Amino acid sequence: MRIDIITCLPGLFEGPLTQSIVKRSMEKGLVELKIHNLRDYTSNKHSSVDDYAFGGGAGMVLMIEPIDRCISTLKKKSDYDEIIYLTPDGETYNQQLANQLSLKENFIFLCGHYKGIDQRVRDHLITKEISIGDYVLSGGELAAMVLADSQIRLVPGVLNNEISALSDSFQDNLLAPPIYTRPSDYKGWKVPDVLTSGHNANIEAWRYEQAVKRTENKRPDLLN
Ligand code: ADE
Repeated sequence: MRIDIITCLPGLFEGPLTQSIVKRSMEKGLVELKIHNLRDYTSNKHSSVDDYAFGGGAGMVLMIEPIDRCISTLKKKSDYDEIIYLTPDGETYNQQLANQLSLKENFIFLCGHYKGIDQRVRDHLITKEISIGDYVLSGGELAAMVLADSQIRLVPGVLNNEISALSDSFQDNLLAPPIYTRPSDYKGWKVPDVLTSGHNANIEAWRYEQAVKRTENKRPDLLN
């Protein structure tokens, strides 16, 4: 999988995408992730990437030119399956959409900032618009990290135990069942006997039952 992220705040990506599973996926050569600074693509002598909105109104708007130049440069080197703009008015992201996207190979994620981006970018350059929830972030960067992380962990070989992505919450529209580790008795708080019984069929049946119960209690909407 290849992910190119276009942003005017590249420093924001230094932490989350350079640790743990994401870092290992890159070291194993399973994922290539590059951050592109929009300011490197402006022809403007002040390196500005935003301007006032035509017609007035508060807030600056990201200009089409640096975005188009950046995307065109990337497209000369790779083909992209999706060019995704992160925006609160996009399609709401969930595990189902994550699974669908994970079948694709190459992505550009475009992070908006300020008031938004010139509508012509959305009309002519973007193939998909995604929101990570009904709230407004100060930019698309955190949303791009959410997308990158949730996509990368679905790439075959990235998780050590391949089954573990399948047993995540939301796969099958069920929340994951409770899990426990040693000690089996802590201050009298005991692990359910079935889990230490060694009886695999009973353990599976218990887990399924618990997953359904938890979903009924916490997220009944998923069962509809
Ligand atoms: N940019 C600002 N808010 C966002 C959201 N909720 N989802 C995706 N991108 C955003």
